[in-house]
Amino acid sequence: MKLGRLNHIGVATPSIEDSIAHYREVMGATKIHTPFDLEAQGVKVCFVDTPAHSTGSGSSDSGGTQIELIEPLGPDSPLTNFLEKNPLGGQHHVCFEVPDIEDARKEFEELGKRILGPTRIGAHGTPIFFVHPKDMQGMLTEIMETPKEGTHWSN
Ligand code: CO
Repeated sequence: MKLGRLNHIGVATPSIEDSIAHYREVMGATKIHTPFDLEAQGVKVCFVDTPAHSTGSGSSDSGGTQIELIEPLGPDSPLTNFLEKNPLGGQHHVCFEVPDIEDARKEFEELGKRILGPTRIGAHGTPIFFVHPKDMQGMLTEIMETPKEGTHWSN
């Protein structure tokens, strides 16, 4: 397994609007992307950037780990259960990049890790899959192919 950068932390929220206000006003986030619906996953998504480097200047250069705010799109959303158990929301998954998604999937399969569903296109427009938290030290883990140069989403 070739561990890449920590791309984002998925954070469930009952209200993306309220969470945006929190990250802007309490946490001082300056780069908050436009929310969008990810119908295939039944969630509304909003990325909040953290700077790649702590320069102390408050710069908001891209390239840092993101917070991925996710809100259920409807009652059938896979997030609905999570929010019933965690009404305030909270950390839902972590997402690591890998250079090659098919290689990574094969490696997890060979280790007997339970992969949840097919490899599919995730919120960054690159292939992803999820690995069961019970096989990943209690953390629902998203594995994402590193965006290729020039195809990095710009929302
Ligand atoms: Co994610």
